Amino acid sequence: MDRKLLLKRDMKEKQELVNIILDRFLPRKDEYPKDLHKAMRYSVFAGGKRLRPYLTMTTFEMFHPDIEIITPVAAGIEMIHTYSLVHDDLPDIDDADMRRGKKSCHSVFGEGVALLAGDALLLSAFELITLAELEAKLKVQFVHELAKEVGIKGLIAGQMVDIESEGKKVDKKTLNYIHENKTARLINLSIRFGALAGEAEEEDLKILDEYGKLIGLVFQIVDDLLDIEGTQEETGKTPGRDAENAKVTFPAVYGIAESHKKAEELTEKAREIIVPLGEKALKLDILAEYLLGRKE
Ligand code: IPE
Ligand code: IPE
Ligand code: MG
Ligand code: MG
Ligand code: MG
Repeated sequence: MDRKLLLKRDMKEKQELVNIILDRFLPRKDEYPKDLHKAMRYSVFAGGKRLRPYLTMTTFEMFHPDIEIITPVAAGIEMIHTYSLVHDDLPDIDDADMRRGKKSCHSVFGEGVALLAGDALLLSAFELITLAELEAKLKVQFVHELAKEVGIKGLIAGQMVDIESEGKKVDKKTLNYIHENKTARLINLSIRFGALAGEAEEEDLKILDEYGKLIGLVFQIVDDLLDIEGTQEETGKTPGRDAENAKVTFPAVYGIAESHKKAEELTEKAREIIVPLGEKALKLDILAEYLLGRKE
């Protein structure tokens, strides 16, 4: 089968599985207090590529045939990701009106509700992950690593440096810090959890960790480029917001051509790193290529 078609079909299948879990788990829209639950569902089901759950499920599948076991963990990660987007769009962070092709959460429900819906998504994600039919010890490890890497040793720290760097001239080290923390960590963790639950060998975990870091960084470089080169129809976001916010991005620091080159080189490296995993890493190879060329 054509590589692109294979990926497209596989992503769609896994998206559907994740969406079923999310729909079952999230409170109904008419449950009291309604606006909280409406806002949570609004943002979760606004669209979205479901990349992080895809990574968790696809990596798990490399070592274990039954992906349903890992789906609640994958869905929990998507809830955490969605929380990060809801808060990222708030007026005091990126002040974005559009997300996933729709009005952003706070633009519809107001800032207070968006803050609370984000908080609720983050916490409910931990609840869902603890409900997975996995060993208790492993689930404690997941909760521990997530709390750290979505928190002060990862995503929140990255977001903090992102906003405090606005309008400043920062060095390449700081740019890397922002991208690694605000974006690459959760992407890498999504892969790691799939591999850990699938009981991958230490050697394979190491390879996947290197792959995860590389595609995580590429993901944010491409996101930065799409803010300049993409359209609202493609990305579902208002283009040009990074320049308006004087954000520290890859193209702002390296220039557009050099950013493309960097993304290509890192992708090449990521694809080379997984070669020792053989046939079972085929989907990760196709995915790395897709993430480099994505327009959405
Ligand atoms: C956007 O993530 C935020 C970043 C970390 C760059 P995605 O591009 O994965 O957003 P959705 O989930 O598809 O909406
Ligand atoms: C997003 O970075 C990182 C997180 C949400 C953690 P951006 O601010 O560049 O993401 P978009 O472009 O708004 O999706
Ligand atoms: Mg941001
Ligand atoms: Mg943003
Ligand atoms: Mg962006």
